[in-house]
Amino acid sequence: MSDTLNLSLKVTLPSLLHKKEKRERITMLTAYDFPSAYLLDQSEVDLVLVGDSLAMVVLGHENTLPVGMDEMIYHTKAVTRGCKRSLVIGDMPFGSYQGGINQAIHNGMRFIKEGHCSAVKLEGGKQRASIIAALVEAEIPVMAHIGLTPQSLLRFGGFKVQGKSVEAAMAIMEDAFAVQEAGAFAVVLESIPAAVAAEITPRLRIPTIGIGAGIHCDGQVLVWHDFLGLHENRMPRFVKRYANLYPQILQAANDYCHDVREGLFPEEQHGYCMPDQNLFMEKIEEKYGNYSAHPSHEGKLQESKV
Ligand code: KIV
Repeated sequence: MSDTLNLSLKVTLPSLLHKKEKRERITMLTAYDFPSAYLLDQSEVDLVLVGDSLAMVVLGHENTLPVGMDEMIYHTKAVTRGCKRSLVIGDMPFGSYQGGINQAIHNGMRFIKEGHCSAVKLEGGKQRASIIAALVEAEIPVMAHIGLTPQSLLRFGGFKVQGKSVEAAMAIMEDAFAVQEAGAFAVVLESIPAAVAAEITPRLRIPTIGIGAGIHCDGQVLVWHDFLGLHENRMPRFVKRYANLYPQILQAANDYCHDVREGLFPEEQHGYCMPDQNLFMEKIEEKYGNYSAHPSHEGKLQESKV
């Protein structure tokens, strides 16, 4: 591991493979807008994912299924405006690639040409291998996503840990090989036993990025709102909060309301002065007198003259 991080170096797809070779762990976080993307770009994070988790954490849906291409592109554009160094990946939403190769290429191209990102991510193993291969052939780099694939929610019947039985774990292993052979440059392993990820990771040439898949992956990913503690919803056990901002923001909003109600904000330093204020007040009094629309505001006219 290198002691110093050179943050001026732009993250590229070959640099990720290089990290795997050198056994340097890869870091990925999600972002959905310009300020969060800009902040991550100033941090040490390698990959910024515009995840379809947008549907849940930003748009308030119960799962990721409702979010569409136009919403994803809108947010991806904002994120790529904020990222100069880190590599941005656009998450292909439900219904944007399951329809076949032409649909996948059309929508994948939108992420590159309109969203200005460097790669796309899509869910599924063996059954999506031909789509991954077609996207890669069309010069659209693909990060695969296997294990718990949230877009398979209806089939899975809930967000359930995958690969717990030997048979299921073997199937995930096959998925991992299939997406590698199809040309994916990396693969997300979501919510699978750590032992399964530990067997997959060294057997793949491409990096594995874990979320709920244990310590043995080549990298890790977390969702922006989860790692910052921006909500109070129940979180999966794999989430670690690196900050607890929800109560702080709530407190800040209530402090602001208190100050506004009590006339403590704004203070003098928050306002602008007027060079000819006295002349202005004379003129206004001449024209409108001491009239105020509400009797309760009469005192205000006196206060402003002090
Ligand atoms: O949509 C998302 O944020 C994701 C990550 C959790 C991998 O797919």
